[in-house]
Amino acid sequence: MQQFLLLLSYLIGSITFIIGLKMLSHPDKARRGNLIAAAGMGIAIFATIFLYRIPNTGAHLHNFGWIFIALLIGTITGTLTARKVQMTKMPEMVSLFNGMGGACAMLISLIEYHDDALPPAGKLTVIVLGMLIGTVSFAGSIIAWGKLNGKINDHTIPAGQMVNFLLLGGMVVMAVMLIGGFSTSPYLFYGILVLAALYGILFVMPIGGADMPVVISLLNSFTGVAAAFGGFLYNNPVMLTGGILVGSAGTILTILMCKAMNRSLKNVLIGSFGGQKPGASTGTKEQGNYKEISLNDTATIMAYAQKVMIIPGYGLAVAQAQHACHELEKVLEDKGVEVSYGIHPVAGRMPGHMNVLLAEADVPYEKLLEMEDANAQMGTTNVVMIIGANDVVNPAAKEDPASPIFGMPILEVEKAGHVIVNKRSMKPGYAGIENDLFFKPKTSMLFGDAKKVLQDLVTELKQV
Ligand code: TAP
Repeated sequence: MQQFLLLLSYLIGSITFIIGLKMLSHPDKARRGNLIAAAGMGIAIFATIFLYRIPNTGAHLHNFGWIFIALLIGTITGTLTARKVQMTKMPEMVSLFNGMGGACAMLISLIEYHDDALPPAGKLTVIVLGMLIGTVSFAGSIIAWGKLNGKINDHTIPAGQMVNFLLLGGMVVMAVMLIGGFSTSPYLFYGILVLAALYGILFVMPIGGADMPVVISLLNSFTGVAAAFGGFLYNNPVMLTGGILVGSAGTILTILMCKAMNRSLKNVLIGSFGGQKPGASTGTKEQGNYKEISLNDTATIMAYAQKVMIIPGYGLAVAQAQHACHELEKVLEDKGVEVSYGIHPVAGRMPGHMNVLLAEADVPYEKLLEMEDANAQMGTTNVVMIIGANDVVNPAAKEDPASPIFGMPILEVEKAGHVIVNKRSMKPGYAGIENDLFFKPKTSMLFGDAKKVLQDLVTELKQV
């Protein structure tokens, strides 16, 4: 009976992961999906604690004191950090939490190897692979976390690719020696651990800032795969399903992000977007003059437009201006203006950042246009209002082959009648390059903090 209940709870856990994951793909349902998956995970954890029997002895788990202290520490730390974290710091937190998943997979392998230093080849393969992939994910995620919060700078390692290749080769040789039974020395096992940690560090260290989300998503898929090896090891279906789902979701997200930037994964991993390539455009060329626009003129142009498209970017998140933005949309619609939002897939600092932000302000989801649809409507749009976005509308991505963002698809705002850009200064965005768009004849700059500007604009519009 207990075994049946355990398997049933694993089945419930696996199903809730799948339902939760599906719901995460829609901003409206994402929160609920997260809660459903978390509840499934909770059921699986408590079922394991109380119903699982250790295979050889048939005994229940003991050490409840340690287990519940660890659960309590994890729950309190996780809840407090998740509550406190600012939206813009989310990628850092995801990276850190992902690193903890990799560390768990690594520890599981270490403990299993410690308990059974001469396991059969099949089990040893699973232990070694779980440890190797988990360690790469742990070390890489910690470096990614340090780079995102500014504690670690980009470092180009001399002959880095060669060093990484040697590390990989070393790990493969040692793993074959160990698993093939050519040597039983535990030094081989711990040697793989050290090389995997070095590999994780050196593989993430040179990657440029703007490519970090892709790397984090890739490391996320590594953690999933490492957890799935843990599932194999313990013959635990829910751990296996969870690991496979995380592994495949991470891989799909990595591919989608590369596609959104029009780059191959290889180019992301060995290129240096965000850093400077030899001969790359410095973005400091003479740009000419830009023109400023007043709040009053902006309000007039917008009020008399038929179609307005708002392009949100990272600055909207920094200014927490999503509610003011929704207010602007409502005031314009009251005046008979058709308003939509053009959403670039890598606007902001994490996948779906703009969707989540606007959903928080109750902007109807139907108003959000994906990049292709937004570009298709650009020619019939009278006014484009860019709020705190920069790289995602930079024409250099299409026009300047030497630019570090060349090849990234952008929102083609120049096709619209008027382009109004709100930001605080002429400073560049994440990729650190100037934006020709700001100097084009159709473009007007509306300087100021996004929240304040939008609030003032709403007041002006009400008077037009
Ligand atoms: P960015 O190119 O980073 O530009 C944001 C602009 O917002 C800045 O130029 C800044 O100019 C302005 N800004 C900052 N605070 C503001 C405020 N309080 N009020 C008004 N404006 C403000 O953003 P983007 O266009 O969204 O592009 C995203 C970039 O980040 C891309 O390069 C992308 O590859 C990268 N990236 C994306 C992700 C994902 S997955 N979304 C993750 C990491 C990195 P001022 O300083 O002059 O105000």
